[in-house]
Amino acid sequence: MQDDIFYIVGNWKSHKTLEEAVIWWQDFTTLWKKQPIATDKVKIVLCPAILHLTTLSSLISLNQIPLDLGAQDISAYPQGAYTGQTSAEVLKDLVAYSLIGHSERRKYCKEESDELEKKAAMCKASGIEPIFCVQEPDAKVPNTCSIAAYEPVWAIGTGTPETPENANQVAGAFLKTHPHIKKVLYGGSVTDKNVADYRAQTHIGGVLPGGASLSAQTFHSLIYHATNP
Ligand code: PGA
Repeated sequence: MQDDIFYIVGNWKSHKTLEEAVIWWQDFTTLWKKQPIATDKVKIVLCPAILHLTTLSSLISLNQIPLDLGAQDISAYPQGAYTGQTSAEVLKDLVAYSLIGHSERRKYCKEESDELEKKAAMCKASGIEPIFCVQEPDAKVPNTCSIAAYEPVWAIGTGTPETPENANQVAGAFLKTHPHIKKVLYGGSVTDKNVADYRAQTHIGGVLPGGASLSAQTFHSLIYHATNP
C-alpha cells in the first residue's frame, strides 16, 4: 500500500553552474515565502549536480525550506580506491535519496541490471533511499527498492508525456507484481500544467520532472498545482 504523500523529485541533470544554482535557490525561496505550500501531503526532492549539494544543503538549513536533496546517481562501489566515483558513504550526510538507473545513465554510461542492483544496495546500506527508474512496464525492480519511477524514454524531454491513465495503469501493475514497492512515480514531460492530472490517479505516488524543475518559477508552480489541484 502506498502512503498518501505525493513525491515531487526535480532532476536538474547536468544543468546549472554553481552561480545559476544559487540564483535558482534565491528565486525559489522568494516564491516559497510569498506563497508557502502545505507540505504535509507532499515530499519535495531536488537532484542537482553532485558538485552543488554542499551549497544547497547549507542554503536549505539557512532558509528552513522543507526540501530534501537527492543524487542523480551513486557508485556501485564502496568508499575506497575507485577514482572518479562518488560512493553512498561519501554522500550519505548530504542526500536522503538517489536516482538509480535513469534512462540517460543506461544509455550513455551503459549501466545494466547487475550494476544497478549494486548501486541500490549501496544506497540502502548507507541509509539513502534509492528511486529506481525503469523505462518499460514489464521491467524488474530490485528487492532493495521501495520507490520506483516509471519513465518511458519516448516521453522524456519531448513534451509528449504518457497519459495519466496509462501511467496509472503501469503504476498499478508495478505495485501488484512487486510487493516490495511502496510508491511508483511517473516521469516524462511532467509540467505545472499537467501535474494535477497525475496527482489525481490512484496508483501514481509522485512525479519526476526534469525540464520543469530548471526554472524556480515553474518548479514552484508545479508543486503548487500538485498540492492545489
Ligand atoms: P523531463 O525529464 O521532465 O524533462 O521529460 C524527466 C526525467 O528525465 O527524469
